[in-house]
Amino acid sequence: MEQKIKQLLEEARVAIATAGVADLQLVEARLLGRKSPLSEIMAGLGNLSPEERKQVGILINQVKAEITQLLEIKKQEVFTIKQKSATERDTTIPGIKPEVGHLSPLTYINRELVDIFKELGFEVAEGPEAETEQYNFDMLNIPASHPARDEWDTFWLRHEPDGKNNTLLRTHTSPVQIRYMLSHKPPIRIIAPGRTFRFEAEDATHAAVFSQIEGLMIDKNISVAHLKSVLLHFVRRILGDDHDIRLRPSFFPFTEPSFEVDISCGLCKGVGCKGCSNKGWLELMGAGMVHPQVLRNVGIDPNEYSGFAFGGGIERLAMLKYGIDDIRWLLSGDMKFIKQF
Ligand code: DAH
Repeated sequence: MEQKIKQLLEEARVAIATAGVADLQLVEARLLGRKSPLSEIMAGLGNLSPEERKQVGILINQVKAEITQLLEIKKQEVFTIKQKSATERDTTIPGIKPEVGHLSPLTYINRELVDIFKELGFEVAEGPEAETEQYNFDMLNIPASHPARDEWDTFWLRHEPDGKNNTLLRTHTSPVQIRYMLSHKPPIRIIAPGRTFRFEAEDATHAAVFSQIEGLMIDKNISVAHLKSVLLHFVRRILGDDHDIRLRPSFFPFTEPSFEVDISCGLCKGVGCKGCSNKGWLELMGAGMVHPQVLRNVGIDPNEYSGFAFGGGIERLAMLKYGIDDIRWLLSGDMKFIKQF
């Protein structure tokens, strides 16, 4: 036994002496790690007589201490080599492979959305994630007294009663509509993808931090027919030609009429199954014809112009497209998850 341990020490000396930057960590694991020969001997100590156990134990500890010390010295050495100036650098040392990241499925779907709408002549508009109460609510026809405000549980950044300068984390991408209309004249065709926030309990289908895509088209004589054809085109491009949409009456303060946009369930093709709670349809987004008051708020004459708007969660789309069953995966940053896309 002693002989064997001494031999292990000899082998360790050679291994450490010949190790380089690239494999030093590996050598260390091989010599001292849980599966190293030394650890195995330690694990087997119980089978020895008390006398032998003591002797072998002491010897192993000595050998371990020596190996640890040799490794420390080697680390110092390798480290100083690494720090030497470029001219002295040993270019024959193998490099350290950097950990390569991977794009999130959300990024992929975002790019796809942007491409689809660009083909239709839509431009991408942006707005800040920290938004004013004014743009997030009031200008969208949702005054403080409006009960619809309860729909958007808000993370306030500044919230004083009657405060003119209240700020919040935007609860939807709709304020980008306001910003864009204030700075551009019709005709307008934009989409606004971006991050949004709600003060909500999280579960498999709700996240406090999520993403939405907003759409806005303003011109003369724009009707619900335009809205429906753009949305149908978009849904079929992103999820496949075997999908249909339907517009269901709904309410949003910034549109009149307002709709809930449903898509036919991709699993049962509209027949009804577990995936869609037997409805055959899944809620995708909100939409409608921009409310005349919203147009007036941004200085557009509703007698001359009309338009449609829509907005909904991007995670929802990604989950449908890629068959993801929990929204929290999408923001987990878990490489094993992300690398599947
Ligand atoms: N902003 C709404 C929400 O987050 C969704 C929405 C509904 C956006 C109707 C729109 C729209 O542009 O026209 O609940």
